Amino acid sequence: MTLGALAAIVGLALVIAACSTETAATSGQADRDGQVDPGDLAASGGDASVDNSGSNAFAQPAPGLDSDERRAFVVGNNFFNDNWVTAPASTTARDGLGPVFNAQSCSSCHFKDGRGQPPTEQNPEELGLLLRLSVPGSGEHGEPAAHPAYGGQLQDRSINGVPAEGSIGISTTEISGEYADGTPYELLEPSYSVIDPAFGPLGADTMISPRIAPPVFGVGLLEAVPESTIEQLAQEQAEAGDGISGRPNVVWSPTLGEMAIGRFGWKANVATVADQTVGAFLGDIGITSSTHPDQDCTGVQLECLAAPDGGQPELSDSKAQRVTFYTRTLAVPERRDVGESSTDNGAEVFERISCSSCHVSELRTGETDVAALSEQTIRPYTDLLLHDMGPGLADGRADFGADGSEWRTPPLWGLGLTSVVNDHTRFLHDGRARSVEEAILWHGGEAERARDDFVALPRGDREDLLAFLNSL
Ligand code: HEC
Ligand code: HEC
Repeated sequence: MTLGALAAIVGLALVIAACSTETAATSGQADRDGQVDPGDLAASGGDASVDNSGSNAFAQPAPGLDSDERRAFVVGNNFFNDNWVTAPASTTARDGLGPVFNAQSCSSCHFKDGRGQPPTEQNPEELGLLLRLSVPGSGEHGEPAAHPAYGGQLQDRSINGVPAEGSIGISTTEISGEYADGTPYELLEPSYSVIDPAFGPLGADTMISPRIAPPVFGVGLLEAVPESTIEQLAQEQAEAGDGISGRPNVVWSPTLGEMAIGRFGWKANVATVADQTVGAFLGDIGITSSTHPDQDCTGVQLECLAAPDGGQPELSDSKAQRVTFYTRTLAVPERRDVGESSTDNGAEVFERISCSSCHVSELRTGETDVAALSEQTIRPYTDLLLHDMGPGLADGRADFGADGSEWRTPPLWGLGLTSVVNDHTRFLHDGRARSVEEAILWHGGEAERARDDFVALPRGDREDLLAFLNSL
């Protein structure tokens, strides 16, 4: 069965259908008394939710997959987790690593389908952070113009005999502040550089965007939200006139062969899970596919160009489809502690200080080829839109329609399980925040008022808000 091909066709039909159907962006599941069933509140991924708050909470298949779908999930899971090796090798199914790369498997960055953390002096081997690179201008489809010598991403590892491009340098400055009640806090502001660049200095006009590996569960549900819903949210925000007005990114989809609304990546710079999958295989692991048949070597990287490959392409279409299917159908963990006074109050504070204007609590998926993902009411806490987050978070690098200070509202589902699954609490696009609190304190731009309101909260409300976020 070619699930991916089917998905592409059905997906296309849906995009067209979605434009003509009316969708309520926030449909609501309240009954006649306006009460929402606590069970609905807990089921963050609708029927694609699982009651699991352990270290494998992000790694579960959506309940309701049929037996063929389960098989595709299992095969995809293997290819997500297994290490790729240098070609030629006896394991021809998984050879072709590099020549330059960042990691040997998807799961080295998305450990247990979760979130990466930046390298530190204590943990220099962390792989979850990568640097996107570009120079002024844009490519054929409006994408950032790749660096002529280093390409679109710094690959800091390589196979034998091929030079790695360089390594990531991070230096941090402390910023201190205090809450309105006098409680002090400290933030770490990172700055990035390329150490030991193998092909000469990058040049003063090179733009660097640090990106940490986000969790990958629930992406099939987000992909199934109709484009019209995303556009409607943007329109509602523009009409509200309260200083918060997100807009969709519009990006080139190499697997669809057309422009589409961006949903994935920290700047909504990728349209579909299939695009993200084949893009990651090439950019992060150095594995070619029918979508990306050429290795990621620039013209000056002669050893890279001359290295043996692991097949043309190295990844078959069926494997690409299985891995795509796998991440699409990873279930969302249920919320914990729904109905407790602290989390209930925290949820109210979340609404009151406008966190929910961007982190939209409820969306509805449309029809897709996977029944388990279709027509679900989900609680992802995102609008999938780009927002200006101010100079403190800006990377100064455009990505399709996103400018240098815009970021996609990240989903907040599963947030509180980060420490359980990934053993850390690093947040934001580069993992600079060491806690949920720090992530909020970094908000600026369109979110500056929400941030100021957070700082001004009485301690009890602040703690309840954090309790709510940790229950997601
Ligand atoms: C070197 C680390 C690394 C590896 C290896 C890696 N990823 Fe990622 N992944 C990232 C980063 C960083 C992002 C965010 C990219 C961006 O903002 O452009 C991301 C984003 C994603 C997303 C989108 C999630 C979202 O909510 O936006 C998916 C899905 C994903 N990766 C799947 C994969 C798959 C499948 C593989 C293996 C083929 C893989 N990744 C390999 C680092 C990695
Ligand atoms: C104007 C839109 C907007 C508002 C309002 C807003 N956020 Fe965010 N939020 C974002 C964006 C965009 C990011 C990603 C920024 C980045 O990574 O640089 C983010 C990131 C976060 C993160 C980190 C998520 C992760 O995966 O790393 C948390 C937690 C968070 N917001 C909570 C809140 C809370 C709580 C409030 C209310 C006090 C709030 N946000 C208000 C847009 C918003």
